[in-house]
Amino acid sequence: MATLQSLIGLINKIQRACTVLGDHGGEGMSLWEALPSVAVVGGQSSGKSSVLESIVGRDFLPRGSGIVTRRPLVLQLHKTEGGVDYAEFLHAPKKRFTDFAAVRREIQDETDRITGKTKHISNIPIQLSIYSPNVVNLTLIDLPGLTKVAVEGQADSIVEDIENMVRSYVEKPNCIILAISPANQDIATSDAIKLAREVDPTGERTFGVLTKLDLMDKGTNALDVLEGRSYRLQHPWVGIVNRSQADINKNVDMIAARRKEREYFESSPDYGHLASKMGSEYLAKLLSQHLEVVIRQRIPSIIALINKTIDEINAELDRIGRPIGGDSGAQLYTILEMCRAFERVFKEHLDGGYQAL
Ligand code: GDP
Ligand code: NA
Ligand code: MG
Repeated sequence: MATLQSLIGLINKIQRACTVLGDHGGEGMSLWEALPSVAVVGGQSSGKSSVLESIVGRDFLPRGSGIVTRRPLVLQLHKTEGGVDYAEFLHAPKKRFTDFAAVRREIQDETDRITGKTKHISNIPIQLSIYSPNVVNLTLIDLPGLTKVAVEGQADSIVEDIENMVRSYVEKPNCIILAISPANQDIATSDAIKLAREVDPTGERTFGVLTKLDLMDKGTNALDVLEGRSYRLQHPWVGIVNRSQADINKNVDMIAARRKEREYFESSPDYGHLASKMGSEYLAKLLSQHLEVVIRQRIPSIIALINKTIDEINAELDRIGRPIGGDSGAQLYTILEMCRAFERVFKEHLDGGYQAL
């Protein structure tokens, strides 16, 4: 019997295949929409890219003040049995990156390739896969930050454009939202919470993440938020301490950053009692548990969708006439095979129950 991990691995593959085919929605519910993913939402420089990096446990994302993330980044984490960590981009499928500083440069270059070296944004996602024994299987989406005003060199429509782009990801019922708010701003002004509440009024798929706890004014703390008194969500709030810009400039690595974060909570007079439920590693664990629950609930409807997809692909192949050549034909066959593999594994799960992650 396959484990749920391998099931999530298959889901990652099919999400990727659907995106290759440009299946971003269209009529009715597509497979892409039926499968869960996790997206970050929040104001510019609230710490979105930093939070994603620490969930992954690798340094690879462009971060910094101002508008750094300018295209959606769809990131698939694949858990491997062992061996070295490596990354692959969909736009450069034959190239294996083992140097994660080079991954960051490639994200920057690929962003510039579409938008130029500007402050413009593009809706076209960059697709990246990371293979590592140290990750949980998950699809994560990094998005540009919500802003209030256009800055020099940006169109006036940018505020709305970014909001619409972000909304197009998080309004999907299967998108798990990491709503990122910085602790050094009033939670009542949080763009993340505002948008999350709009698309997920019951809060069932929203995780509140409070960054920059280390930057709060002395004598204040975020207990009202972290303990759910300021803004109640169904899931518990998680407090985070990411690397500061000074840490980034000094090249403080991920392991040191996580240790510092753990020490911060354990030694904090304000948050010591919450230490085991704070920090990036805890957030990653919480997310993977939630994902497991969501996937279990979805299995029957995913099977139905897969069967529909198989029918549609067969119909399309009949229409083109088989055997067929060319790229699109090969892609259809690949997806068809994947769907069949999928169906088998899902059925096993329904028949045989589950094995723990
Ligand atoms: P994004 O624009 O939301 O993706 O935010 P980034 O992850 O790029 O971070 C923006 C800036 O805030 C960077 O200079 C980070 O170093 C800094 N930053 C993010 N989170 C924290 C935090 O928890 N503490 C501190 N001190 N700085 C942070
Ligand atoms: Na930023
Ligand atoms: Mg960013």
